[in-house]
Amino acid sequence: MYGVIFHFLRDYVIERHGGKDTWQALLEAQGYKFKLYLPVQDYPDEEIVALVETASKALNVPVPDVLEDFGSYVGPQLLTFYHMYVKDKEMNTFEVIETAGGSIHDVIHKHNPNRKPPRLSSQRESDNVLVIYYQSHRKLCPVVRGIVRGLGEKFNERFEINEIQCMHQGADRCVMRVTRVGSR
Ligand code: HEM
Repeated sequence: MYGVIFHFLRDYVIERHGGKDTWQALLEAQGYKFKLYLPVQDYPDEEIVALVETASKALNVPVPDVLEDFGSYVGPQLLTFYHMYVKDKEMNTFEVIETAGGSIHDVIHKHNPNRKPPRLSSQRESDNVLVIYYQSHRKLCPVVRGIVRGLGEKFNERFEINEIQCMHQGADRCVMRVTRVGSR
């Protein structure tokens, strides 16, 4: 996983879970006294899983809930960090998801043939309903849910998310039906 995601995780822990001391404690639990994650360097997926699992135990919050909360934090950050790909002032949540599925993840990975970006696609059922298809060996569907909610907060939209099928239940990909139910 790209170091940029570890950066976001660090910012998330510092902002929502007790500051730099908490991040330092998480690193030390992985055996690091000090660790700097470089944004465009590739790090083993296991490292981020271990960090999230340790955070989940420390907070006494289930891993999927930590991932979803992290997703809600990271969604709006992605827009800022990758502003060259997203003209967020002219977009709404569904449009960002459609762009991410159609091009962003592929563009980010195109110089590195070994990367396995998530496969994200979507289909509009109506103005207010988007069906999201997510497939990745990382099975991070709670992050997808969180990103949808986080983008919704940014764009002042509220959503109901129904998981129609999930890789964690043996499906080949996750399918979520997202209904815009109003503004915040
Ligand atoms: C501004 C738009 C977006 C940008 C710039 C972006 C960028 C990225 C980057 C850099 C990664 C790390 C990939 C890696 O290290 O291999 C990533 C992973 C991920 N992204 Fe996005 N993303 C965007 C939008 C979205 C949206 C809208 C969703 C879903 C609703 C999404 C879902 C995910 C998930 C679940 C992962 C974790 C990796 C995996 O599941 O395999 N992203 N994204």
